[in-house]
Amino acid sequence: MNLFNLRRQAARAAEQVPAPVAMAEAEQLSRDRLMPATERAAQIFVRGQGSWLWDSEGRAYLDFTQGCAVNSLGHSPKALVQALNAQTQALINPGAGFHSRGLLKLVNQLCQHTGSDQAYLLNSGAEACEGAIKLARKWGQLHRNGAYHIITASQSCHGRTLGALSASDPSPCNRCEPGLPGFSKVPFNDLAALHAAVDSSTVAIMLEPIQGEAGVIPATQHYLKGVERLCRELGILLILDEVQTGIGRCGALLAETTYGVRADIITLGKGLGGGVPLAALLARGSACCAEVGELEGSHHGNALMSAAGLAVLATVLEPGFFEQVQASGRHLRDGLSRLAGRYGQGEVRGQGLLWALELSDELAPDVVKAALQEGLLLNAAQPNVLRFSPALTVSHGNIDEMLLRLARAFARVHTAQLSLR
Ligand SMILES: Cc1ncc(COP(=O)(O)O)c(C=O)c1O
Repeated sequence: MNLFNLRRQAARAAEQVPAPVAMAEAEQLSRDRLMPATERAAQIFVRGQGSWLWDSEGRAYLDFTQGCAVNSLGHSPKALVQALNAQTQALINPGAGFHSRGLLKLVNQLCQHTGSDQAYLLNSGAEACEGAIKLARKWGQLHRNGAYHIITASQSCHGRTLGALSASDPSPCNRCEPGLPGFSKVPFNDLAALHAAVDSSTVAIMLEPIQGEAGVIPATQHYLKGVERLCRELGILLILDEVQTGIGRCGALLAETTYGVRADIITLGKGLGGGVPLAALLARGSACCAEVGELEGSHHGNALMSAAGLAVLATVLEPGFFEQVQASGRHLRDGLSRLAGRYGQGEVRGQGLLWALELSDELAPDVVKAALQEGLLLNAAQPNVLRFSPALTVSHGNIDEMLLRLARAFARVHTAQLSLR
């Protein structure tokens, strides 16, 4: 064994990293046993801290995707680890038919800090969106002659359960057609199209304030204000899907407040649990129309996930946290703009710490692969769009390091392209 291998072994022992599953064995297991639901890189990650991840070979990666904005406080943040440790010792899940202190505290805090009347905790963003659809349909029965049509936007993403998929566009699940009836899609940021689509069968308009999966496309202020006005004029519900934009991602607890609008129903997920599965459904006024049996689930609001949500919420609500997110976001935006200028790339857009860099070609998957080789984790939201959703606690130093690695990834892709000519 050479010196390098010995050093690596010693480092691994010191970090108590489990012995790596041989890469070939892992690939075989992945191919044979894991349902191919999503594209996965070959790396096996064994440890994470803040903005960094380590693979089974001991290699470090700077993580600017954080599970697509799930790990809001980065990997294994102290506040979350301590809260989970304490809660696992005390009580994990009393069962959905019972209360825990954490459940009551979290729904109360979510209501207080978002100006909502009721909250419910679920397992995933898709499930929260299902809940929003169900609440809207119920409200339509109570208040709008049974209307159940929901208008959503082109290129929207509300999750991958059948109802959430039916609300999304395009539905990536052609083989599980038919989807749920009762959804129509209109172009995003187009008020005239929305006006034309609404009729007496419409019960709600459901939108993301910033379309994350579509490539970080923000609603314009004019549009979202106009949508709110239309909903009020017609007496229909406004549902905002803040699964990606909520819990500080946009530099405020909700993106809604940055737009100065007020929805009737809001969905939260991703960052709320800081990496632990947790989502929430918030309702205001007459949209609080759920009754026993309509939303329930075995794991909903269990003590462990509630503890995670409370730890995340307490952290993001600390004084100065959102200002810090905004400052880091500006630093990231400026760096990306400089890089875009240097490499002749396109628009940089986003808010808070959710940003996209539009590329001049459909090379985003190639850049993501090259970045991985440079020890940088990125996401290609679209074939021509790189998405950046780092930990909300990311440092300026992390951002500068990411920009260096991204520049090297661009150079790799450029060299590979030249060699193909
Ligand atoms: C806006 C939005 N809503 C809902 C979802 C679905 O969330 P989950 O993957 O937790 O089901 C996503 C996931 O990307 C999303 O971006």
